[in-house]
Amino acid sequence: MGSSSSCCGSEKVDERKSSVYRMTIGAVGNSSSTWRIFTYKELQVATDGFSEDNKLGEGGFGSVYWGRTADGLQIAVKKLKSMNSKAEMEFAVEVEVLGRVRHKNLLGLRGYCAGGAEQRLIVYDYMPNLSLLSHLHGQFAGQVHLDWKRRMNIVIGSAQGLLYLHHKVTPHIIHRDIKASNVLLDSNFEPLVADFGFAKLIPEGVSHMTTRVKGTLGYLAPEYAMWGKVSESCDVYSFGILLLEILTGRKPIEKLPGGVKRTITEWAEPLILKGRFKELVDPKLRGNFDENQLKQGIHVAALCMQSEAEKRPTMKEVVGLLKGYDPKSEEKQLRIESIRYEEGLMAKDQDSDDENGGGSPYDESSAAYGVFGAMDVQKMQDPYKQYGDRRTAKHG
Ligand SMILES: Nc1ncnc2c1ncn2[C@@H]1O[C@H](COP(=O)(O)OP(=O)(O)O)[C@@H](O)[C@H]1O
Ligand SMILES: [Mg+2]
Repeated sequence: MGSSSSCCGSEKVDERKSSVYRMTIGAVGNSSSTWRIFTYKELQVATDGFSEDNKLGEGGFGSVYWGRTADGLQIAVKKLKSMNSKAEMEFAVEVEVLGRVRHKNLLGLRGYCAGGAEQRLIVYDYMPNLSLLSHLHGQFAGQVHLDWKRRMNIVIGSAQGLLYLHHKVTPHIIHRDIKASNVLLDSNFEPLVADFGFAKLIPEGVSHMTTRVKGTLGYLAPEYAMWGKVSESCDVYSFGILLLEILTGRKPIEKLPGGVKRTITEWAEPLILKGRFKELVDPKLRGNFDENQLKQGIHVAALCMQSEAEKRPTMKEVVGLLKGYDPKSEEKQLRIESIRYEEGLMAKDQDSDDENGGGSPYDESSAAYGVFGAMDVQKMQDPYKQYGDRRTAKHG
């Protein structure tokens, strides 16, 4: 993996004055997939004491810092924000899941540290092009590194990562937080799905589970947002939103002038119905896109975003559809179902404003829009009961 095509990470590094931050060419993306236990001291030294300068991003779990180990490997270290049982659980889930997965489109585990009571850190390989979010709506949006070919590659790669989670590992894994900030980009803009803190392992023979709702509004499947019903098709729904976001460059939830919030599906639906595809595509591409791939992408997104979970395709089908352009789909009229979350849910969406978009300086931590923690779903009625769902369901 060369670093010649890396853009953003190297810029970030170059901005820094200290020689400590100079890149070690070739260290990034070390193909060895072994992991080990790190000491706290080692990570403290590697990240220059978890300095603000080295902060790469922030999410629900904690802050992520750039660092370099004594042997020259560039790493990203996720450090727990605060120590409580919820955070401890996320740490345990992420380490457990990461230890099980190995796929070129999933960000694997480089190591972890679970020293004293306050020390919970996860170590990954550093991804020099940071997150997809930073390119679509964040600090790199103005530079347009994501041309059409790269976008298509990101779509297919992340779909393959999800396919692996859903179909290739046992027990199957549901990610539950598929979104642009959880797709990282290596030096060649290859996508790696990251952040398994909310992941759920699905025991064999179980079709869905009912859980407390976690994730990001805008990407949440309706049955999951409303009733906590989680299955692989929740990830498929989120993937559909992500796909539409990559094609259009729009955020999943946008705040319109006047404060009204609009979902990406509400915006896209009328344009798709009228077949006005060229108006859907991200204007930053300046017309440089493949029309057939665009149509097929929208077709797949529409299939993934159906409100009835049973009708959505599996990730296997999604990958198949994305890889082969199916001319028959052209004849079918494309429909998209726009979703409008309940007012109560929309009110929980913390930050959907557009001020962070474009080329202005951008702090990814402020773009954790829509992240809300656990929501009590027990009080809500499970509508699936009335249909006498015969498949096994598990509450957990
Ligand atoms: N390996 C990495 N390389 C570069 N940036 C990273 C890496 N891991 C995380 N980040 C940055 O940190 C952000 C938060 O990381 P994430 O794993 O999603 O944590 P959280 O569980 O807190 O959401 C990401 O959106 C990304 O910007
Ligand atoms: Mg995250």
